[in-house]
Amino acid sequence: EGDVYKYYADGEWKKSSSGKSVAIINPTTRKTQYKVQACSQEEVNKVMNSAKSAQKLWAKTPLWKRAELLHKAAAILKEHKAPIAECLVKEIAKPAKDAVTEVVRSGDLISYCAEEGVRVLGEGKFLVSDSFPGNERTKYCLTSKIPLGVILAIPPFNYPVNLAVSKIAPALIAGNSIVLKPPTQGAVSALHMVHCFHLAGFPKGLISCVTGKGSEIGDFLTMHPGVNCISFTGGDTGIAISKKANMVPLQMELGGKDACIVLEDADLDLVAANIIKGGFSYSGQRCTAVKVVLVMESVADALVEKVNAKVAKLSVGPPENDSDITPVVSESSANFIEGLVLDAKQKGATFCQEYKREGNLIWPLLLDNVRPDMRIAWEEPFGPVLPVIRINSVEEGINHCNASNFGLQGCVFTKDVNKAMLISDAMETGTVQINSAPARGPDHFPFQGIKDSGIGSQGITNSINMMTKVKTTVINLP
Ligand code: G3P
Repeated sequence: EGDVYKYYADGEWKKSSSGKSVAIINPTTRKTQYKVQACSQEEVNKVMNSAKSAQKLWAKTPLWKRAELLHKAAAILKEHKAPIAECLVKEIAKPAKDAVTEVVRSGDLISYCAEEGVRVLGEGKFLVSDSFPGNERTKYCLTSKIPLGVILAIPPFNYPVNLAVSKIAPALIAGNSIVLKPPTQGAVSALHMVHCFHLAGFPKGLISCVTGKGSEIGDFLTMHPGVNCISFTGGDTGIAISKKANMVPLQMELGGKDACIVLEDADLDLVAANIIKGGFSYSGQRCTAVKVVLVMESVADALVEKVNAKVAKLSVGPPENDSDITPVVSESSANFIEGLVLDAKQKGATFCQEYKREGNLIWPLLLDNVRPDMRIAWEEPFGPVLPVIRINSVEEGINHCNASNFGLQGCVFTKDVNKAMLISDAMETGTVQINSAPARGPDHFPFQGIKDSGIGSQGITNSINMMTKVKTTVINLP
């Protein structure tokens, strides 16, 4: 058991008294790569207590000092990009280059957060009473933003470092403490990232990282009375969490079925390049991946041909080789994707490539002539399989997009900006990208989903604000 990674609490690395561990399976080898502690509910209780007391002191720490520590953590994280990226490669099969990018992007996010926090939190409001009917100028109201308390951060497997720091950094700059529950696939990368915060010298108990089984500590964490806010990124579990949560502010980014609407006047080379990047980067395992192409019939043949030519050039293999397409995160995920592919086959979709799978590795696949009765028209494969639905009017495309239970992002390709604006207004998604694939970044842009895609808005500034509440003091003059 000596090789079980310890969890982080009270500024120390600890073994769980449960004596149990959770195995992390390397998606490529399908063998156990690492083990982490299976923390108990009692350990979660302790972590919550320390988080509460550490937060009280942290809230009194000057804002500039909090920012200074975050800048330090960002620099240390960037220095450790190589070993962390290596973990990402082994735990979640992220292509080597993308793994390094994830860590560097995370460092930049922390620094930006520190700077933005100093600006956003460094000012409040001053109101006077006589603007409201019946009042004299006898009340002065001062507002400021104060922390919420203990923030529970639950990031997903696809960005275990980046989507952890996108919660941790805003929480800390705003004076909150953090309890992090990393995804099992990605837990060791997250523990390494937490180590960078440890090295930066944050106070004991302010940041904790508990690992373990969702069945043992999942609900226990999300329903814990010590939690003052939950920031979650992931799948359906988010909907279950929102129903059980203890009347605390929620920030949730869940699934997506991002549509790519292609008009007749679109630059098809640009569209094809964006479909490849949007649909197949990290093998389609991004909430913001292009998940359905809705193309006008008159340009569909030409577009499909261009996309196919590019699919043929994608390299398929292990993440260590920096392959474009790497094994999907787990066997159950590969099985789920296969189920969608077989359903489409049975219902008559056109297979532009042969369906091929070895273990968790699925070759990139474009499915043409997909119809609304196929599961893949609506469900999120989270894999390198992309459906194309041919449409005869723009309205048909918009209707398909809006009939989805998801509403994260979408994109539209056309040279007519006026049309693009009208389509953007009509699409019921948190963001619409004109002439580019959906994406969360740059990380200071607002990022939000509607319907089953989430609650609240992220992006650095929105996250900082979301993790605070307004406090007012009113001075009453005689
Ligand atoms: O899947 C998580 C989501 O936040 C995607 O981020 O940067 O790949 O658009 P990004």
